[in-house]
Parts: sequence; structure tokens; C-alpha cells
Amino acid sequence: MSSDAKEAATNEYVTMTDHSTGKSYDLPVMNGTVGPKVVDVRPFYRDTGMFTYDPGFTSTGSCESSITYIDGEAGILMHRGYRIEDLCEHSDFMEVCYLLLNGELPDAATKKEFETTITYHSMLHEQLNNLYRGFRRDAHPMAIMVGVVGALSAFYHDSTDINDPEQRMIASHRLVAKMPTIAAWAYKYSIGQPFMYPRNDMSYAENFLQMMFSVPCEDYVVNSVLAAAMDKIFILHADHEQNASTSTVRLAGSSGANPFACIAAGISSLWGPSHGGANEAVLNMLGEIGSADKIPEYLEKAKDPQDNFRLMGFGHRVYKNYDPRAKVLQSHAHNVLDALGIRDEPLLKMAMELEKIALEDDYFVQRKLFPNVDFYSGIILRAMGFPVSMFTVLFALARTVGWIAQWKEMIEDPSQKIGRPRQLYTGEYDREYVPLDKR
Ligand code: CMC
Repeated sequence: MSSDAKEAATNEYVTMTDHSTGKSYDLPVMNGTVGPKVVDVRPFYRDTGMFTYDPGFTSTGSCESSITYIDGEAGILMHRGYRIEDLCEHSDFMEVCYLLLNGELPDAATKKEFETTITYHSMLHEQLNNLYRGFRRDAHPMAIMVGVVGALSAFYHDSTDINDPEQRMIASHRLVAKMPTIAAWAYKYSIGQPFMYPRNDMSYAENFLQMMFSVPCEDYVVNSVLAAAMDKIFILHADHEQNASTSTVRLAGSSGANPFACIAAGISSLWGPSHGGANEAVLNMLGEIGSADKIPEYLEKAKDPQDNFRLMGFGHRVYKNYDPRAKVLQSHAHNVLDALGIRDEPLLKMAMELEKIALEDDYFVQRKLFPNVDFYSGIILRAMGFPVSMFTVLFALARTVGWIAQWKEMIEDPSQKIGRPRQLYTGEYDREYVPLDKR
């Protein structure tokens, strides 16, 4: 048990009775700083010979963590104890990165030093150019990202020793710093434009926008409204405790795999439409709906238990209230649309209409299905000029710092073990092998 876990242990127990044998087992109860109590089932198999069963981990805490706290019922999200709304209003993405990685907000000098470190790690090894050129031009940018991030371990050998704290930190800085370059180059490759190199005189968000949207033949002026919105989007996606991709990173890392390989695994997990792929799915869904008069028809499909269709960008495993990230993004979406003067864009108008109707519909109200962060990020990113295929890439870019902070926390936790769930076996048992000519 780690020292934190010892502090978290209470003198409380829950008692479980196996009625087939009449035996009872006392399971220790642990308290976090806030949030539900946790029953410690570690001795359960040893003491009872039984496993616990929890597909989808709906009742299982997989680790101790002091990085991010979510209260899904109240719609609260905090990083290192700071509310997401405050971070969005007063902070910037670089400061949030430092906070997630180090646990505290930096002072002015430390912040400057951190920004300089990130800035000076933003270039990619020049030979990585060749790796991009091996992909088909029509490859999905997420596919390129998985490949390139995984390949970083073939280029940065001096930061793959997970047992060396300094190498762990260098790998963390490299991943945060290089992700915008990797993401922008995936886009540039897909449209056949030259790769744009990072610029040290720009902020993290500005630099990403220039690598995405500038070309070598003319000057590019960053729109400050867009840069501010980009920075907010990065903050809002920076971490979200033990979701599917973060758990993937932790599980991959628990075997001792290097950080670049672990983050590539996290990107793969994020890609799915139930997770980070949802913002792309929102826009595809709006395209499929086509016009506002079809919204009722699609709402009926979403409500029909026989139909697989779900309203993308609605609902969340943890939030049974408004996703606080969605609230912040909702107001930014309106600002960006106003600033760009594109309020009349048909798809965006339809999204607003869909949001209004769904929020009043009994099915969604009763199941507490609110718009989630992906609903608004899809709208805002489209307005900013990002192609739909880049939406999940942006999520991965921003989430990298959360993944790496969680990976570091796991490596540095003395109670860390390789992740190895058990199962309820329901297959055949001990069959006699039948030779091929007798089957
Ligand atoms: N549209 C229609 N019905 C829904 C939806 C939806 N988007 N989401 C949930 N439901 C219904 C579901 O059919 C079920 O109804 P019933 O109780 O009658 O069977 C009930 O609501 C509970 O759903 P669930 O599948 O048990 O909930 P879950 O916690 O397993 O799923 C979810 C969470 C996010 C996967 C799901 O809400 C969903 O598929 N949403 C659409 C995809 C999406 O927007 N994903 C982004 C999540 S936020 C970003 C992130 O963290 O990655």
C-alpha cells in the first residue's frame, strides 16, 4: 500500500457474506479527499477465491490519483484542486500543463522557463519527414498521428528510460512540445502543402495555428480571437481523470513500455466515436441530418431502443449534469461565431436548433443526457476552419499533457503493478482434440 493509500484507509469496513458457505469477509473502506468512498478489494481473491465482475469499470477505481477530480452529479471538474472555469478564465494552456505535470501553479520565472523549454522542443527530427511521406495522402490524420508518435521512441533514445526521472521529464516536455507540429504536419501532408516549421516567437496556440494554416509564400497574421479560443479548447481537453484513453496509457505504461509508445496507445483509444472521435461524429451526424426539419426524425431514431443511432455529442459516463467544459465552450462558440461573422452557417444553425430541442425532450431530460464537450468543440473547430478529420487530432494534442501527467504519476507510485484484469470464463472446458480429417 502506498503512503497516500495508508492515509486514505479508514477504520470502516463493508462486510460481504457468501451465503453458500455462510462465511463473511470484512473489506476495508478508503476515503479520498472528496468523492465516493472506495472499497479495497485487493485481498478479495486471496481471501475468498472469487473475483469481482465489473465490465466497463462502472464501479471500479483503478488507481490513486491527485491530478483531476470530477463530480459528475454536480458538474464539477478540477485539476490539482483548481476549477476548470477558473483555469479557463485566468490561466493559459502552458500554465495548465505545468500544473498538471508538477502539481502546483508556477511563479512567473518558472512559467517563463517552462514555456522556453516547451518552445525549444517543438521541432521534429528532420528524418521524421520521411516517415510522413510513407503514408497515403488520404490517410486519416489520426492514423498518421498514431504512427508518428509511436515512432518518436525510434528517434529520441535518450528519453525512453522510464526509471530515470530526468528522462521521464524530458520525454514529457518533448511530447507536449512536439504534438502541435506532428498534428499540423499530418494535415499539411493530407492537402499536399509544405510542412511549416514551429516559430519560437509565438505562443503554443498561435504557433499551432500558423503551422496549420500558413504557407511559405505569404505572411500569416494570427487572429487573436482564434488563438484565444484555441488556447481555451486546449485547456478544456487537457485531462479528464481515468477515461478510456488515459486508462489505456496507464495500462500500456504499467508493463514498463516507453512513454512515446504509451501515448500512441492512448491516441488509438481516443480515436473511437464513443470517446474523442465524438466531435468528428457530431459534424458527420449534422451532415447526415441535413436540415432542421429532419431533427425530429433523428431524435426519434436516437430514442428508439431498436435503432443503433445515438445523438453524438450528448450524454456522458460521468456527467449526469451539464458537462462544465461544454458550458465554457458554449459561450466561446458563440464568441467565435460572432467574431468571424458566420452565425448563419446552416450546419451551425442546425446544431443550435438540435441542442435546444434535445434539452427540452423528456427522453434526454430523464436520462440526464446533456450536450458534452464534443458537441461544442465540433461546432467551434469547424467555424475556425479545421477540417472534420482534424477534430480528434486536436483533442489528442491537448490531452497529451494529461496522459503524460497520469503516466508519470503511475510510474512514480510505489504501489504500481502491471495492470492485469481477471475474467469470468464462459467458454468450453477441457475438450478432446479432434484431428482435422475427423471434423
Ligand atoms: N443518444 C441517445 N441515447 C443515449 C445517448 C445518446 N447520445 N447516450 C446515452 N443514451 C441512452 C442510452 O440508450 C441508455 O438508455 P436506456 O437506459 O433507455 O437504455 C441511457 O441513455 C444510458 O446510456 P449508457 O449507454 O448506459 O451510458 P454510458 O455511460 O455507457 O455511455 C456515452 C456514455 C458517452 C458513451 C454515451 O452517452 C454516448 O454514446 N454518447 C454519444 C457519444 C459521445 O458524445 N461521446 C463523447 C463523450 S464526452 C467526451 C469524452 O469523454 O471522450
